[in-house]
Formats: sequence, C-alpha cells, structure tokens
Amino acid sequence: MDRTAVVKAGAMASATVCALFGGVVLAQYIFTKKQRAGKKTKIIEMMPEFEKSTIHIRDPERVEQIICSLIKGGATKLQIITDFDMTLSRFAVNGKRCPTCHNIIDNCKLVTEDCTKKLLQLKETYYPIEIDPHLTMEEKYPFMVEWYFKSHTLLVEQRLQRDKLPEVVRESDVCLREGYEQFFDRLQTHSVPVFIFSAGLGDVLEEIIKQAGVYHPNVKVVSNFMDFDDNGVLKGFKGELIHVYNKHDGALRNTEYFKQLKGNGNIILLGDSLGDLNMADGVPNVENILKIGFLNDKVEELLEKYMDSYDIVLMRDETLEVPNSILQKIL
Ligand code: TMP
Ligand code: MG
Repeated sequence: MDRTAVVKAGAMASATVCALFGGVVLAQYIFTKKQRAGKKTKIIEMMPEFEKSTIHIRDPERVEQIICSLIKGGATKLQIITDFDMTLSRFAVNGKRCPTCHNIIDNCKLVTEDCTKKLLQLKETYYPIEIDPHLTMEEKYPFMVEWYFKSHTLLVEQRLQRDKLPEVVRESDVCLREGYEQFFDRLQTHSVPVFIFSAGLGDVLEEIIKQAGVYHPNVKVVSNFMDFDDNGVLKGFKGELIHVYNKHDGALRNTEYFKQLKGNGNIILLGDSLGDLNMADGVPNVENILKIGFLNDKVEELLEKYMDSYDIVLMRDETLEVPNSILQKIL
C-alpha cells in the first residue's frame, strides 16, 4: 500500500468512528431529551383513561397495535358488537346491585310474590354457576339452559302483558353505564353499526335503551324476544334461546346482517362474561378485533383468566370512559 492509500484508509476509518460516535451521541441526546420532556410515543400512553386503576392489560404492545389499526381504518371500517346486561348496564350503584333485564321482571308488580320467590331461588342456584371460576364454559352450559328454561317457563305462567313493560322499566333501578350517551351518540353520528347481542330479554332491553334516548337507527338488538298472543299476553319466546354460553353462533344466526357489514372488518367487542368473548365468532372478514371486558364479580379469582382472554379488562369500572376514549381517537 502506498502512502496516499494508507492516508485515505486512515481518514476513512476515523470518519467511520466519528460518524458512529456522533450517531451514538445523537441517539443518546434524543433519548435523554425525550425522557426529560416526558414525551410519550404511544397512543395508549397519551390517553389519561389508560391510567385508571381499574384498567388491566396483559399485552400493551398488542393493544397499541390494534388501536392503531382501528384508527387507521376509521369510521367506515368499524363496527361494535356488545353484550348488554352488566356491560352496557351497570353492575352496581353505591354498592347496591343493579338489575339485569330478567331481574326487572322478576321484581316487578306484574309477577306474583310466589313467582318472585321462585325466580330468586333460581338466581341463587344458577348465578354462582354462571360466574364460577373453577368450571369451564362447557360444564356451565347445561346449567344455563336449565336456568333459562325454568325462568322463562315461570314468566310465561305469569301471563305478562306487553303494554305494561314500559312502566315496569321506568319503575326499575336499571342504570346504563356512565358515558352511555356519548357512546351511543358518537357511534350514531359516525354511522357505526352497533350489534347488541344479549342473553337478556329483548323487549325489556329495547325499552331501556328507548327510554334512555339512545335506540338510534344504527343499533340492532339480538336477544330473547317475547311472543305475545293477540291480546298482548305473553305466550312464549321467539326463535332459538340465547343464553350466556351459546353466543358463539350469533353470526351464523344473523348471516344477512354481517354480510351487509363485510366492509366493517374492524371490531370493538364489549362484554362482561367469558361467554361474550365468542360473540364475534363466525363474523366474516374480521381484520382487527379489540376485546374489552368488564370484570364485575369475583374479581380477584377471575382477573388472570379475564386478562388472558380480553385485551383490556376493566375491573369494577362502572363507566364507559375507556371505550369512549378509544372511540374518540378512531372517530
Ligand atoms: P346478557 O347476555 O345481556 O349479559 O344477559 C344475560 C344475563 O341475564 C346473564 O348474566 C344471566 C342473567 N339472567 C338473570 O339475571 N335472570 C334469569 O332468570 C336468567 C335466565 C338470566
Ligand atoms: Mg352480560
């Protein structure tokens, strides 16, 4: 190697070292500056609702990535699939339990005292099974069918009158989660389809959201609807029974609805039971799905299981603040 070549090689080597050194210093400078400024780079870090003590997330990176995809897709790609009882409705107010759709009827004046007692006994037998952390969904399934069969048979025996339902709902303690107006109104403004898939009582559910002023045209309710005779007296239930643990075939039962929404591949699913996790099974063309679960009861025992299955778990959170904050970013 002649002298010029040696000089050139030396110059190149020192330039490379300088560049490398400079790069490291620059990177460190940016990192320190960001840290000093407390700058956050993630969407979920920038949302104050994600700092609530009620929120539990197993994999924040995954949640971040799904939310980014939902934001990218915007309103036109989005649809909501949600449970009703204890998801859109509150579990408790000041420590006092709120009623499910069924409980509204169980405790109303249209039902005899004897029937109320029997319905309460059923609840005391079957509700602990519904939320038992040690039983699988398959094990719970037959008990749920039994509960619904017995409970619905009792209701039919009571010969309930359709035209009394609005009054019964008005007089009940049912309460939607805080932030429900914002939730429904924003989805309506942006024409985002909302599929309420409930193992409750459809007629009662519809009356609740009607009275709350949020039964907008973008909302579809699929639930157990009462069948009334010509005099408006309850004679049975329409269609196949929906209970807490057979929600996985909901899309198959509503093929036409989901076919029309085949462009809406981004889903936000809201539920409170492990059975609700399957509500979007069979929905065609799913691109991204964010599962948000409300953990209301047996929270310590169930937290791990919920965190394994739901992307976001909201523990004893009676509000829709977190879903609303995500919707605000997307819409
Ligand atoms: P959901 O699918 O909208 O949550 O509604 C189902 C809830 O209703 C579920 O938690 C069980 C509850 N339920 C009663 O409270 N009373 C009953 O008699 C029956 C059959 C169900
Ligand atoms: Mg529920």
